Amino acid sequence: MRIAILTSGGDCPGINATIRGVCKSAVNHYGMEVIGIHSGFQGLLTKEVEPLTEQSLSGLLTRGGTIIGTSREKPFKKTPGDPCEDKPARILQNLRELAIDCLVCIGGNGTLKTARKLAELGVNIVSVPKTIDNDIWGTDVSFGFDSAVSIAAEAIDRLHSTASSHKRVMVIEVMGHKAGWIALHSGMAGGGDVILLPEIPFDIHTVGETIRRRIRGGKPYSIVVVAEGIATDGRLRPATYIARAIEEETGIETRETVLGYVQRGGAPTPFDRILATRMGSHATDLIACGKFGRMVILQGSDIDSVPLDQVAGRLKLVSETHDLVVQGRRMGVCFG
Ligand code: F6P
Repeated sequence: MRIAILTSGGDCPGINATIRGVCKSAVNHYGMEVIGIHSGFQGLLTKEVEPLTEQSLSGLLTRGGTIIGTSREKPFKKTPGDPCEDKPARILQNLRELAIDCLVCIGGNGTLKTARKLAELGVNIVSVPKTIDNDIWGTDVSFGFDSAVSIAAEAIDRLHSTASSHKRVMVIEVMGHKAGWIALHSGMAGGGDVILLPEIPFDIHTVGETIRRRIRGGKPYSIVVVAEGIATDGRLRPATYIARAIEEETGIETRETVLGYVQRGGAPTPFDRILATRMGSHATDLIACGKFGRMVILQGSDIDSVPLDQVAGRLKLVSETHDLVVQGRRMGVCFG
């Protein structure tokens, strides 16, 4: 069998470990041939490919980013003026010319939608969920999330000492797109006093009251963790918007930090290395069994898979009844 592998959407720690998991098991155990497609679906349009061999896999377990590159190319999206008229048809033709029996798509929600559409056109597809945002429906966790949370939690830890020395409020904005998973987990792991998530509406007076109550209780500083997807006036970055609102509301000196792309860069945590390895290797098992049109998932401590139809186009968001929110509230954390 000849399989192809591509990585699409934002990069994240653990992609290379997944490529390694797919390839090692494909080459060593099943005797398959593996082709790497460059720059996501873009490479399927331009036929930019390279064979992935044992040599190409060396050192991949710990390496950040993706060795085959990524892009946000969406071949089913019609872009006015785009010279390539029928991208899906071109992809089908290129897959035929490259003699690909199955395509492994490592990606997040956008990738899953494209993967499902290609599957509907008859392409044998297996997907592996990848995103720091952890917002993919159907899997308990996607690899990259644990790495992003540990980077964000470390940043929050470091903000504590400077906040406390200056008696300031520190607002830190973390990624997550429309979901609050990174903010919730890093905020709770870092002992945030206020955690604002896109899924839970907030009232700035409640946030201000939490900060004033801490001061009355002898804690003259506060840490506010803000997810990038929270509702704002649309003009300012969430961190800036919240920092200004807090200063206005409380009169306390407030500073902001936008953590940004460091959350996506560098080596995966051991948890993500293991998850990526298991998911990658399981993807190859699915191919060997001819189980196509599926996405690999983690359920509890088991690796399994679900049909792409069940997951593509659905977001996994934080609910107000999530245990960490409920317990956090009981412990005095303000969610707005
Ligand atoms: O989906 C991962 C993510 O890092 C989000 O958290 C963030 O909103 C987005 O990608 C940033 O995308 P880009 O790489 O296009 O700037």
